[in-house]
Amino acid sequence: MAKRSPETKRNLAVEIAAIVDPIGGIDLDPPPRGDRNASEITMLRGNDILLIIAGGIAFYKSLDLIRRLRERGAAVRAILTRAAMEFVTPLAVGALTGNKVFTELFDRQDEHDIGHIRLAREADLIVVAPATGDILARMAHGRADDLATAVLLAADKPVLVAPAMNPLMWRHPATQRNLATLRGDGIRFVGPNAGEMAESGEAGLGRMAEPLEIVAAIEALLRPSAAVLAGCHVIVTSGPTHEPIDPVRYLANRSSGKQGHAIAIAAAAAGARVSLVTGPVILPDPFGVATIHVETAREMLEAVEAALPADVAVMAAAVADWRVAKASSGKLKKDGSGQVPPLALVENPDILATIGRHHTLRPALVVGFAAETADLLANARAKRLAKGADWILANDVSPEGGIMGGDENAIHLITGEGVEDWPRLPKGEVAERLVARIGEALRARREAAE
Ligand code: C5P
Repeated sequence: MAKRSPETKRNLAVEIAAIVDPIGGIDLDPPPRGDRNASEITMLRGNDILLIIAGGIAFYKSLDLIRRLRERGAAVRAILTRAAMEFVTPLAVGALTGNKVFTELFDRQDEHDIGHIRLAREADLIVVAPATGDILARMAHGRADDLATAVLLAADKPVLVAPAMNPLMWRHPATQRNLATLRGDGIRFVGPNAGEMAESGEAGLGRMAEPLEIVAAIEALLRPSAAVLAGCHVIVTSGPTHEPIDPVRYLANRSSGKQGHAIAIAAAAAGARVSLVTGPVILPDPFGVATIHVETAREMLEAVEAALPADVAVMAAAVADWRVAKASSGKLKKDGSGQVPPLALVENPDILATIGRHHTLRPALVVGFAAETADLLANARAKRLAKGADWILANDVSPEGGIMGGDENAIHLITGEGVEDWPRLPKGEVAERLVARIGEALRARREAAE
């Protein structure tokens, strides 16, 4: 871990206290059930999950992860690395798991029967969250110099890793080499996501996946047939489109692709085969998702049509409404006369409307977004009908809300039955909720058809 100044340490301590406090009250009551049904709640009953917590600030999300796993019926045992114990105590983690917490490789009580082999064997799944750059490096090299890595080396069960580190550490070629090695070894990954880091002023790719995203990935690994979108093909569009003016200039918008990519990740974690058609973004291609890169609206439409048939289409891209009628083949030049080039615009094809009204291959569920700055609900309702969508997720993108390019979203889900107002949530959780709702809708349709 990098050295932190005393002030950063103090700030971090205050932040951690604020985050952990509601949990630190050892409130083991499950969070409110919301609209989840009983079968989802007990989805992991009978499963033993071994959670390895490495030393990263994202450890606080792992405390919530423990609660969410137990709430679904899983038994959780935890291993803390030495670095993790700089952030959280075995006592706190043990209070949440309700089990002994393991920390030492050479523990006199546990090692008489080769405890590290037993811990690996007794688990149905091993989850490493947060996984730091250091533990990934040690895993990739087959090290076994502490309990966590010894267990991982002895593991004959699936291993799911949720990386969490500074964006520079994530991007480093050494980390990327280690990831490639681990993927080749069959290790599964969830995240990381893009966004703000705990260190103030730092942002980029490296935030640990949200607890619910990790739960969905765990459920898909342990219950592949019960994963809510198992057997479904889902097409997702994401990001902006770039409409060329000349070879170096283009028309675009501020979409980051974070929401669309999060939906693709959540759908894949729920067992779907996902085709993600994305405009130019700085996000990495999600693991386990077929990602098709396009630039313009017309290319995006072509790629979406080529990906049909599908069970579900979620059109989250911010497609440019217009393109330049005739992009110049050479760079437009100032000629000193003060004349500006005439940029005549023509309308782009509407991908959502094309898919929503597709005569032969319309997916069973077509979902669009409505990003508005005024008359949100009225505009979104009109859009649902005009574009032939089943659902519209409406969000207010007025600049003061910070949603465009930000990490959170405040959604109103408009269906044929009415409007559901969702609380402001991280984009990963919006994706989770949407995927859960899609799973329910498809199940209800299947049941109605039987
Ligand atoms: O008309 P507007 O852009 O507000 O509609 C938003 C919804 O329509 C989004 O789901 C977006 O992905 C989709 N859309 C599209 N093709 C367009 C314009 C919008 O698929 N050309």
